[in-house]
Amino acid sequence: MDELKHQIEKNKQRYIDELITLLKIPSVSADPAYKDDVRKTAVHMQGKFEAMGLENVHLIETQGHPAVYAEKIIDASKPTVLVYGHYDVQPPDPIELWDSPPFEPVIKNDKIYARGACDDKGQAYMHVLAVELMLQNDCLPCNVKFLIEGEEEVGSDNLEVVLQENKELLKADVILISDTSIIDNQTPSITVGLRGLSYVEVEVIGPNRDLHSGVYGGAVPNPINILSKMIASLFDADNKITIPGFYDDVEELSPAQREALAQAPFSEQDYLKELQIGEVYGEKGYTAPELTSIRPTLDVNGIWGGYIGEGAKTVLPSKANAKISMRLVPNQSSDKITQLFSDHFKAIAPKGVKVEVRPHHGGEPLVVPTNFKGYKAAEKAMEQTFGKTPIPVRGGGSIPIVALFEKELGLKSILMGFGLDSDDIHSPNEHYGIFNYLKGIETIPYFYKFFAQ
Ligand code: BES
Ligand code: MN
Ligand code: MN
Repeated sequence: MDELKHQIEKNKQRYIDELITLLKIPSVSADPAYKDDVRKTAVHMQGKFEAMGLENVHLIETQGHPAVYAEKIIDASKPTVLVYGHYDVQPPDPIELWDSPPFEPVIKNDKIYARGACDDKGQAYMHVLAVELMLQNDCLPCNVKFLIEGEEEVGSDNLEVVLQENKELLKADVILISDTSIIDNQTPSITVGLRGLSYVEVEVIGPNRDLHSGVYGGAVPNPINILSKMIASLFDADNKITIPGFYDDVEELSPAQREALAQAPFSEQDYLKELQIGEVYGEKGYTAPELTSIRPTLDVNGIWGGYIGEGAKTVLPSKANAKISMRLVPNQSSDKITQLFSDHFKAIAPKGVKVEVRPHHGGEPLVVPTNFKGYKAAEKAMEQTFGKTPIPVRGGGSIPIVALFEKELGLKSILMGFGLDSDDIHSPNEHYGIFNYLKGIETIPYFYKFFAQ
C-alpha cells in the first residue's frame, strides 16, 4: 500500500489534469440548454472506463440523462463493490458571484474551483482513479461495478427504473459512495444517515390580471401578501412546523443517542462566525448539528411575483409563487408529507385566492448501521490514512437513490465522502481541496482491501 501512496504522489498532476478536463464539460442536469453537454460528460466517462480496461462499459439510457456503467469482475466468488456517484452538477447561478468562471477550473490555495469540483465529479473521479491504480498494480482484491448517473441533482427520478430493470447487472455486496463530507481534514467521519426530501412548488392566484395598486389596492387579495402570510403561519413561536401530522412519524432520539451524536466536535461560535449570522435559528430545543441532521425542516428556496425590476412600479400582482423544500428524517415518508403539506396549504388559503401545489421530486430518509462489514471496512480504511477512527455522523443532505438501493437491490450503502461542508457545493465558488482529492484516492484501495478480507 505504501507503493500506491508513492504512485499517487507521482501521478498527482495527471490526476488533477484529468479532473479539470471533466470539470470543463458543463453537465447541468436541470437545464435543458445543457442536454448535449450532459451526454458528452457521460461519453467522456465511458471513454475513461474503456481506456483503463474495465469491461461491459456502456451507457444506460433513461427517460432523461444517461447513466454510465462499467465493471471489472476478477473472480465471481469474490465480493463485489458497486460504486455509485453522479456526473451531473447543479446550475452555476448566480454566475456574477463567481470569482472565476464555473466551467473554467482554476487552482487557488491548493483547491480546485469549478462547479462540480466536489459535488460530485471530484469525489466520483477519486473512485475511477483508485480502481485504475489498483488495476495498474495488479492488486484489485474484489470485483467492482460503477454506476455513475446524470440526474442526481434533479432527484434521480429515472434511476429507480434502471435499478428495477438491471437487478442482475447491479448485483453486488455493498454500495460505496463518496458524495458527502468529513468533519475537517484532521477529523475523518462517515455519514450514517441522510435526510429525505419533499419538494413542492406553490402558486397563489389572485385577480385575473395585474392591477394598479392604487386604483384597486386595499380591496383585492394581493397574492404576494397572502403567500407571505401563509408561509409565515407554517411556523409557531418555537419554530415548530404547524402542518398537522408533520411530526407524527419523526423518530425521536433517546438522550443517549443524542449524546453519542454530540461527540462529533462542533463549535457554535465558529459556525456563527463563518456564516456571519447572529444566532442559530430553528426549532427550539435542539443544537445546530441536530437541527441539520436529525430534525425535519421546511424552507422556502425561492419566491417570486410582481415587479422586481429597477425602481418602483405600482402594481398589484395577479400571482405569487414559491418553491418549498422539506427535509425529512426517519420514519417520515416523502409522499405522505407532500400530501399533508398540500392539504394544509390549501386549507389555510383565504377564499379570495386560488392555490395550486405542484409536487417535485422526493426522496426517503435513511440511516446506515455501523455494525456490518461494509462500515467496518470504511472505518479501518480511514483509520489507515487519517490515523484516526472516523466519527459516525448523520448528514443533512439527501441522495434520493440511496434508500432505493436498499429497497430495490437489498444493498446497504457506505457514505464515505471526503468533501468539507465549507466546499460551497451548490453555491458560487464551489471547490475541492487537492488534499481531499488525493486522500480519497489513497483511502479507497484500503476499503477494497478490508472489504475483501
Ligand atoms: N451530494 C449532495 C448531498 C449531500 C451533500 C449529502 C453533503 C450530505 C452532505 C447531493 O448531490 C445533493 O445535493 N442532493 C440534493 C438532492 C436533491 C436535488 C434531490 C440535496 O440534498 O439537495
Ligand atoms: Mn452530490
Ligand atoms: Mn448536490
